[in-house]
Amino acid sequence: MFSVDLRSDTVTQPTREMRRVIAETEVGDDVFAEDPTIRRLEERTAELLGKERALYVPSGTMANQIALAVLAKPGDEIFCSEKAHIFNHEAGSPSIIARAQLHPLPGERGIFTRPDVEKRLRPEDHHFPPSAIIEIENTSNGGGGSVWPLDTVKDLRALAVERGMRTHLDGARLFNAAVASGVPEAEWSAHADTVAVCFSKGLGAPVGSAIAGSAEMIEEAHRWRKRLGGGMRQAGIIAAGALYALEHHRELLADDHRRARRLAEELNRHDNVEVDLEGVHTNIVWLNFLDGRAFELMEALAARGIGVIAFSPDRMRLVTHLDVDDGGVERALQAFHELL
Ligand SMILES: Cc1ncc(COP(=O)(O)O)c(C=O)c1O
Repeated sequence: MFSVDLRSDTVTQPTREMRRVIAETEVGDDVFAEDPTIRRLEERTAELLGKERALYVPSGTMANQIALAVLAKPGDEIFCSEKAHIFNHEAGSPSIIARAQLHPLPGERGIFTRPDVEKRLRPEDHHFPPSAIIEIENTSNGGGGSVWPLDTVKDLRALAVERGMRTHLDGARLFNAAVASGVPEAEWSAHADTVAVCFSKGLGAPVGSAIAGSAEMIEEAHRWRKRLGGGMRQAGIIAAGALYALEHHRELLADDHRRARRLAEELNRHDNVEVDLEGVHTNIVWLNFLDGRAFELMEALAARGIGVIAFSPDRMRLVTHLDVDDGGVERALQAFHELL
C-alpha cells in the first residue's frame, strides 16, 4: 500500500527466513500445553526478562489487561501516565476486565516520578479507592518513544514496596528501551511484578505478546487468558515468528533508532515543524505542526506512497522499523521537503 510505511512498527512483513522457520516449526495443542514452540518462546522470554515464567498471548492489549487483572482487586486504583496506552488506547478495558480505576498522571514525555505519585496517594479511609498499582510504559509510545531514567523506575518501585503496592511494566517496546539505554531487559523488569512485551512491534514478528512474572502470577494469568478466549491451539505457527524475532532482530533496533533521529533532525529544520529532539530516544518521532496542516500533509504524503499518522491537526507520528531502510528514510524526507 505504501512504499515507505512510517505509520507504526506493527506493519512489518515477516522476513523470508522467518517465513521458512514458521513453515518448518513443530506445533501442538497449546491449550493442552503440547506446543513445543510456544513452550520454547515462553521459556526464552522468561529468561530474558529474569522472571520465573512467561505466557504467550495474542496481543499487547491482552497482555496488559491480564496483568492488571492479576494485580488489582475490583475498585483498586492504578497510577499511570496520562499518555499511557492503557489509559488512551485499550478501549477502557481496565474498568471492564480488572474492574479497577486508572489515575492518570502528568509528566514530561509520558514519564512521572515518585513525588508525582506521592502527592496523589490516597489516605487509608473507606471513602477512597485503594492506591494499589503503579504502571510504567517503557518506552512511552505517547511520550515519543522515550526511555525512562532507570533511577526514576527504581524510586517508583521503592515507593510501591514501602506502600504495599504492585507495579506493572508495559514493555511493548522494552527491547527498544534496552538497546537505547544499554540497560538489559531483565534489569528493567526487576522493578516490576508483571511485564508485558510485544513481539509484533519493533521486533517484526507477525503476531503476539507475552506476560512475565512469578510462577504464581502467571498461573493466574493463564486462567485469565482462558476467560478472555485467548487460549490458542497450534499457535506455535505464529510463536515461531516471535521466537525468531526475539533471537535475531533485537540488535537491529539500533538502526531504527538511528533512522528516527535522522528523520527528526531533518524535519526539525523546517520553520513550521517542531520536534522535541532531546526526546527522540528510540524509533518514534512526533512532529508538531505550527500551521495545523498535519491531516492535509498526511494525505499528500499518502498520495506519494509515504504512510504517516496525524493524530490531530498539529500532531503527526512517524515510526521506524524493520521494513524501512536508509533509502526509505531518504525517500520520505524528499517527499516531506517538497511538501513543506
Ligand atoms: C505501549 C503500547 N502498549 C500496548 C500496546 C498494545 O498492543 P496490541 O496492539 O498488540 O494490542 C501498544 C500498541 O501499539 C503500545 O504501543
